[in-house]
Amino acid sequence: MFPAETSDRLIADELQAHSAGATIGRRIIVLDQTSSTNDAILQVAITNSNQGLVLFAEHQTAGRGQRGNRWESAAGKGLWFSILLRPKIQINDSGRLTIWAIETISDVIRTEFSLEPAIKLPNDVQLSGRKVAGVLVEMRAQEKAPHLAVVGIGINVNQSLEDFPPKLQSRAISFAMALHRPVDRRQLAVAVLRYLDRTYRERFTDEALQS
Ligand code: BTN
Repeated sequence: MFPAETSDRLIADELQAHSAGATIGRRIIVLDQTSSTNDAILQVAITNSNQGLVLFAEHQTAGRGQRGNRWESAAGKGLWFSILLRPKIQINDSGRLTIWAIETISDVIRTEFSLEPAIKLPNDVQLSGRKVAGVLVEMRAQEKAPHLAVVGIGINVNQSLEDFPPKLQSRAISFAMALHRPVDRRQLAVAVLRYLDRTYRERFTDEALQS
């Protein structure tokens, strides 16, 4: 068991204070619960679709993965979030965003935790051959502006094996299982957003200027 710290709860203002001057994280919302953060962020985008908005949920009731799969989002045990972006890429080029996100999450795992992640295309990050994170990019076409991209990221952080449904127990892993200790989700969220902001600017230079 890796008991969740009560202090580990995500707080929007606190996360945003670490994102000063950043594109990704310039505005952060944390919900207790939603169906899917990929859907919830589009609701917010109706009134403000500047890129860089990040929406976390402590729990998703209908988190989804690639190919219509359900994504398990145990309450308070992982990082379940979506980022709103407006890169100047073609609507059918969303794979670039998926690769960017999974490579950046791998960088965080390798650099900040001294673990050896592997990328399993098209959208997985694995530890010891089991999935620790997944990315679901969904695009919305815009007629006279860069298309909207929602980059949904799920990271298994503090689950123990029994927190996963039986059918996933041989295929899933969390940071805590790999490290044999709980991980502070706030610190991890800050690190992941910082890396994503830097690598987004590097890879989507001109695009990153769009807002
Ligand atoms: C996959 O591996 O199949 C992709 C998983 C993506 C899960 C994340 S959790 C946050 C965001 N909201 C969702 O409904 N899905 C993504």
